[in-house]
Formats: sequence, structure tokens, C-alpha cells
Amino acid sequence: MNLHIIEHPLVQHKLTLLRKKETSTMKFRELLEEIAMLMGYEVTRDLPLAYEQIETPLQTMESATIAGKKVVVVPILRAGLGLVDGLLKLIPSARVGHIGLYRDEETCKPVFYYYKMPEHKERLVILTDPMLATGGSACDAITRLKKDGFSNIRLMCLVASPEGVKAVRDNHPDVDIYTAALDQGLNDKNYILPGLGDAGDRIFGTK
Ligand code: PRP
Ligand code: URA
Repeated sequence: MNLHIIEHPLVQHKLTLLRKKETSTMKFRELLEEIAMLMGYEVTRDLPLAYEQIETPLQTMESATIAGKKVVVVPILRAGLGLVDGLLKLIPSARVGHIGLYRDEETCKPVFYYYKMPEHKERLVILTDPMLATGGSACDAITRLKKDGFSNIRLMCLVASPEGVKAVRDNHPDVDIYTAALDQGLNDKNYILPGLGDAGDRIFGTK
């Protein structure tokens, strides 16, 4: 597994704004969309290309296009939804799947409640969730996708903990992780420190 930390200054600047507790819900959503676009550029950096003959106004040429079946963007509900629009701006033809998981408040274990994916199992899956804390939700989501036949999976998050990275590495060594930050660790409620709080609540204004 490769861990890619996206250190681009624009991503880091926007992440700082996201982390600030005074950032409003409206601003939080806007920033997430912008970061998703910037990170999407890195997540898709090595997509294979094919060449087709086209005509420019001056002559014919062999020109590059994205090869084969393209991408499925798959948010882990709810918070993963915050990264979808930015990715769809970059890849308008991407399909979108959904995986519903929430962390039980007592046990912090993921509880599964929804799964809907498009066909075309050979497509690249970009699984989105801003927070990789214990890694339980991401690992369960990846396990479910693999059981369904998807094998080309990348995980895009925003803030990861060392514990979450280890969980994905141990359980799914074939899945690359893209994150804007690797934070210190988890508190006694399994929230990431320093983190940015509860991503779902901050995106949807539910607290
Ligand atoms: C958050 C977050 C991840 C999960 C991370 O979701 O969006 O899905 O927790 O924690 P983990 O790595 O320890 O599993 P939450 O359960 O709060 O649900 P929500 O997105 O619906 O608010
Ligand atoms: N889920 C969140 O939204 N934030 C955390 O820090 C951990 C889990």
C-alpha cells in the first residue's frame, strides 16, 4: 500500500481553514469541494491513456484520451458526500456509488446500512471519506466492494490517523490512500487529534 500525502500549498491552506472551529457550514462545504478537485488531480495522475486520431484545424494528429472504462466515485455516507462534487467537476462522466456506514457511538465500530454500486466492476473506484480515524469504516467499505467484485480501489480522505492508515495497510495492502494530512492520533473517543471535529456534522450542520 502506498500512502500519498498531498502537500500542495493550496490543499494545505484550505485544510487549515477547514480545521478552524469558527469556519461556517457553508464555507466548510465550499472548501471541501475545492480540496476534492485539487486532490482528485493527484488521485487520477496515473490513469492510463489511449490515443485517437483527431483533426485540428491544421492537420491530423494522434491525441490522448483516458483509456477504457473510467471511474466510480463512492462516498461513504454521510461525510464522504462532501468530496463528491469536486471530483465530478474533474471527471463529469464518472459513475457514483454509495456506501452507508455510521460509527456506533458506544463501540466506535461501523454499522452498515446502505450499498448501491453501478455495474462495470473493472472501473477504478475512488472511495471518499474525509476522516480515516480507527479505519473501521474504510476497511469495511473496501471489504464490501471487493466482495462485490471491485478490485481497483483508491481511498481518498482528508485527515488520516496513524491507526487508520495501519488498519487499511494490514487489511487491504493493495489499496492506496490519498490524504491531505497524517495527524497525531486518536483521543479516547476515537476522534482524530488535532483533526477537524465531526466531519458529517460540520458538512451538514447537524450539531
Ligand atoms: C465518520 C467519518 C468516517 C468514520 C471514520 O463517520 O466520516 O466514515 O466516522 O471513523 P473510523 O475510521 O473510526 O471508522 P460517522 O460514523 O460519524 O458518520 P457520518 O458520516 O454519517 O456522520
Ligand atoms: N469521524 C469524524 O467525523 N471525525 C473524527 O475525528 C473521527 C471520526
